[in-house]
Amino acid sequence: MINEDQLIAAARAARENAHAPFSKFFVGAAVHAKSGRIYGGCNIENASYGLTLCAERVAIFKALSEGERDFEAIAIVTDTDALTPPCGACRQIIWEFCGDVPVILSNLKGKTERERSLNLLPRPFDSSHL
Ligand code: THU
Repeated sequence: MINEDQLIAAARAARENAHAPFSKFFVGAAVHAKSGRIYGGCNIENASYGLTLCAERVAIFKALSEGERDFEAIAIVTDTDALTPPCGACRQIIWEFCGDVPVILSNLKGKTERERSLNLLPRPFDSSHL
């Protein structure tokens, strides 16, 4: 069972570390592993722009690099009224590594919405097609 409040709080905390001097768009994410551990991530931009890493992928890759392989949910937090859904690249990574999980979108005012990752990426490509 996931603790949604805890997951959102971790995404909020990770957002504090966002390195976004170019877009000034600060994103935090947190992924809940089946082990019970939560891994946060923030977006990290750089001067080439194109090498920017989104918060979602940072959170998932941090968890993977710690040995986690099974996930239950991911949360994404921004400071916008219209909640921020994951970009296309992150939808692919969420699908491949987390499967069909709840994607919890939240903002600093506490507005929260939930969507399943498979709804965000219909007919996904993955290793089953190789
Ligand atoms: N960004 C994320 O971190 N996650 C998303 O799902 C959308 C976009 C970041 C990338 C870039 O640093 C900034 O937001 C503006 O696109």
